Amino acid sequence: MRKIIIAGNWKMYKTISEAIELANGLKRELSSLDYAAVDVVLCPPYTALSEVSEVLSGTEIKLGAQDVYWEDEGAFTGEVSCPMLKDAGCTYVIIGHSERRQFFSETNETVNKKLKAILKHGLIPIVCVGETLAERERNETFKVLENQVKKSLAEISQSDIVKVIIAYEPVWAIGTGRTATPAQAEETQKYIRDLLSAVYNKTISESIRIQYGGSVKPENTTELMKQPDVDGALVGGASLKILSFADIIKQAGKVSKG
Ligand code: PGA
Repeated sequence: MRKIIIAGNWKMYKTISEAIELANGLKRELSSLDYAAVDVVLCPPYTALSEVSEVLSGTEIKLGAQDVYWEDEGAFTGEVSCPMLKDAGCTYVIIGHSERRQFFSETNETVNKKLKAILKHGLIPIVCVGETLAERERNETFKVLENQVKKSLAEISQSDIVKVIIAYEPVWAIGTGRTATPAQAEETQKYIRDLLSAVYNKTISESIRIQYGGSVKPENTTELMKQPDVDGALVGGASLKILSFADIIKQAGKVSKG
């Protein structure tokens, strides 16, 4: 059984005081909810990580970063390493987000280096993949995903791959209000799982969690989470509002996977 995981990607939003306010609000809202069936992760910007970590201490809500560099330390101006993220209280790290691929030259090869560093340090990676609208319209979705999945996850052992979380985020659905239909999400995520089964084996592919991301909101959470190969959500915009993020967690908690 795969536990549903809902992660909030705050992107480049929230000053430190705003982040503390949002985290406190969520903590308050979730304290009256039974969300034991769901893993909840907040991914604020780097500057707010340690303060949000303090807010979350004593709760089941986990902290994640939005990116990382693969070296532990060195002359790499502007970068942040795995040991630094652990020190700030992180358990999870998002890598390969389409905004990083699009605007910051992230490639499958750099994602793979980051993934290896994350696993070496015992952090949990959330590896994002997804096709653009043009690629989907050219019927290249599966080809693009095969390339992203195989290259981003290259040379990862069987014992490590089961720790990896994959986030399928169609680029055309991110921040656009245009969500993939539950059937589209399921079809694509099943394809990813079959791919993992071919590279590893069925038992391993069945244990890997695959999130959906792209305009997830309370109104579409239940139907998405009900899909057999959708094991959670990576939420952008709706994770910046206390009530909508809490509602997404509530809806997800009601959908149990057998
Ligand atoms: P969105 O972002 O929910 O605002 O579409 C999702 C993401 O980029 O992870």
